[in-house]
Amino acid sequence: MTIFESIRDDHETQRTLIDLVVQTEGDSDGRDDLWARLKRELEAHAGAEERYFYVPLMENDTTQEAARHSVAEHKELDDFVERMDGYERSGSQWLQTAKELRERLLHHLAEEESEVFPVAGQILSDDAKTSLADDYVADMERRRSDD
Ligand SMILES: [Fe+2]
Ligand SMILES: [Fe+2]
Repeated sequence: MTIFESIRDDHETQRTLIDLVVQTEGDSDGRDDLWARLKRELEAHAGAEERYFYVPLMENDTTQEAARHSVAEHKELDDFVERMDGYERSGSQWLQTAKELRERLLHHLAEEESEVFPVAGQILSDDAKTSLADDYVADMERRRSDD
């Protein structure tokens, strides 16, 4: 596995979860459960991805700017999540914001895959691509099982 494949797998999980979240009904266990899963997944991924993908990319002039941009988007996504948690879970504002979050998230994932991965591929060695994947996957497992 390379770091790109590992990240892409988790992006797929996020795409699936956000699609399910926006299809949920107001006051349902399904919404609560899917939202909890998505939040945990987003938080774990942002943390592990920053540590084992963006930190190394920030050390290189070629990828520094893209890395900073992506990390800034993590903060933006996090703000969406926080706003949503301030709304009534069964209300229309919550669902509307979930749909906006979906748009932002899909944009972020697509940008990472189509713009960041190609340049990162040029600066990371083959060894780094696999060792970062191992570290990333282990870190994700740790973070997913927290709390
Ligand atoms: Fe990201
Ligand atoms: Fe990502």
